[in-house]
Amino acid sequence: MSDSPFKTSLLEEADGPVRNLSSNATMGEIIATRFSRRGLMKGALAVSAISATVGPVALLTAERANAQAPGSAFSFKEVEAGVDADHHVAEGYDADVLLRWGDPIFADAPEFDPLKQSAAAQAKQFGYNNDYVGYIPIEGSAEHGLLVVNHEYTNPHLMFPGLVTLAEGKVQMKPLTKEQVDIEMAAHGGAIVEIRKEAGKWQVVKDGKLNRRITVNTEMELTGPAAGHDRLKTNADATGTKVFGTINNCAGGVTPWGTYIMAEENIHGYFGGELPAEHPEAGNYKRMGIPEGSYEWSGFYDRFDVSKEPNEPNRFGWIVEVDVNDPNSMPKKRTALGRFKHEGAESIVAKDGRVVFYLGDDERFDYVYKFVTKGSFNPNDRAANMDLLDEGTLYVAKFAEDGSVMWLPLVQGEGPLTAENGFQSQADVVIEARRAGDLLGATKMDRPEDVQPNGTNGKVYVMLTNNTKRKDDQIDAANPRAANAFGHIIEISEDDGNFSATKGTWEVLLKCGDPSVAEVGASFSTATTANGWFGMPDNCAVDSAGRLWVATDGNSPKATGRTDGLWAVDTEGEARATSKLFYRVPVGAEMCGPLFAPDDETAFVAVQHPGDGGEDWEGFGRASYYEDLSTRWPDFKDDMPVRPAVVAITRQGGGKIAV
Ligand code: FEO
Ligand code: CA
Ligand code: CA
Ligand code: CA
Repeated sequence: MSDSPFKTSLLEEADGPVRNLSSNATMGEIIATRFSRRGLMKGALAVSAISATVGPVALLTAERANAQAPGSAFSFKEVEAGVDADHHVAEGYDADVLLRWGDPIFADAPEFDPLKQSAAAQAKQFGYNNDYVGYIPIEGSAEHGLLVVNHEYTNPHLMFPGLVTLAEGKVQMKPLTKEQVDIEMAAHGGAIVEIRKEAGKWQVVKDGKLNRRITVNTEMELTGPAAGHDRLKTNADATGTKVFGTINNCAGGVTPWGTYIMAEENIHGYFGGELPAEHPEAGNYKRMGIPEGSYEWSGFYDRFDVSKEPNEPNRFGWIVEVDVNDPNSMPKKRTALGRFKHEGAESIVAKDGRVVFYLGDDERFDYVYKFVTKGSFNPNDRAANMDLLDEGTLYVAKFAEDGSVMWLPLVQGEGPLTAENGFQSQADVVIEARRAGDLLGATKMDRPEDVQPNGTNGKVYVMLTNNTKRKDDQIDAANPRAANAFGHIIEISEDDGNFSATKGTWEVLLKCGDPSVAEVGASFSTATTANGWFGMPDNCAVDSAGRLWVATDGNSPKATGRTDGLWAVDTEGEARATSKLFYRVPVGAEMCGPLFAPDDETAFVAVQHPGDGGEDWEGFGRASYYEDLSTRWPDFKDDMPVRPAVVAITRQGGGKIAV
């Protein structure tokens, strides 16, 4: 939804070409059947009008913010939705900045100095654009552990002085220097940081012996069915098993055995150059939008230029697993989980002991997947679990008109996944997981983001952030709105509450957007206030009580009259589909994380790309860049740029959040 003139601001939201051109039915006809069976369907607009449940007058009663909706699982005074330069948390809570871009995370790391940035300094400091946040307890503690944080991407116009000039009111960016590109590479990846709660406040343990930065230059191993395949070999790596770095790590996960998962998402923007004509990877790369060339790395490093290193893009787009117990361990790209634009990989142990990873492919009209390990989780032997992700079955979801969901296996030799169709081995299937999903007839979704299992109620929540390209004749049961600007949330119930099942049922939990505008077709409960509704669900968390918390990406003055934030969403009983605003971010930011400490006494949230935007905010009204920022959160010092940061939210006086 961004209007930003800065190209790396646009990677996720670019109004670019649709990349799934397969002819999979979008079930337009089937949904018609389903809705008419319910007596609701009179065309898309009729569906929208009927599903608006809250009148504008009801929404204006903001005093409801103080009240708890009948049956709600959440008790807190709602934050007022809006836009300004600061962040805001519900009354009675503290939102403390824990880790900012540039903060030293090693005893010998230099203090952050925005005018003296270097790649060497950045590699020892907290990286840029924190996204996924996970917590791995040390000795089972809820107050002492490792915070694992992805650094998804960089915004050079906010990071570096002197890059932007204004010419006739239009911004122009100078090309980056090699040193700036190297800083970008060091600011990507992830961070593993020991933290400890002392006197109720979280502190960074700067000399933590497990502290680590992972960057675009960290050596990694490719494992699983595609490891060593010819399509993964390059001039630098004749084995097809060694690769440097990970890029665009969006969300992720922590496995039941305590490893850190980093998902590689929008990899297309890092590659430049042109593939040689008739190159065998042409179709594969087109399906992924490679090369897109937003970043300038290919000008300095041949491996990001597909004309020079045509196989390098096949070495990205995977799920990466990091053993945090050894700061020198080599991260592993687990190819069994498929190659696409991985949002994240949240996992849960199924009844039969196998481990299930839920995976979203964040692109318009792309798919929801899950991976079920072949082996079982051994809670008493961590080492026995360390290669569980190399063997198992990858499934893609088909959401049917009757409210059932089928998980279709991506297995070479089964169904259409044959040599005749270009799948010679399982390596081909995982490298081109999207095309395999196309042939299996998977359901084309409205940008699948976080997919979160809930061990408390046995459900799975699928965040579908938006898809304004869906046409009227492309709506289907699971994607029920054309021009879906505000997204929706699907709730899956696997058969018998068994997460490893190959089928289940589903329903739409929530259609997002302003419920007071009938044409939007939102479906928040009538107990939801004018502050409580949101658009564009992205990441989410389930706390120990099984309650759902949703983080958003794309709310803005123009889109929804509010910033992004963290929203508490009831899923049970009469309060189902009631939403309340708990925390909101500064202008230009998106809300990432979120994550609850094991005792539910801390909510960790990641404020990503604050200050990236401000044109549509009346408090600023122009392009935001290093010299002229819409916010200088969180330091608010004239000599300090805006800085993405992880925030720890705790209750004043202690106690669990929102009970
Ligand atoms: Fe990086 Fe799907 O958001
Ligand atoms: Ca996001
Ligand atoms: Ca997003
Ligand atoms: Ca999550």
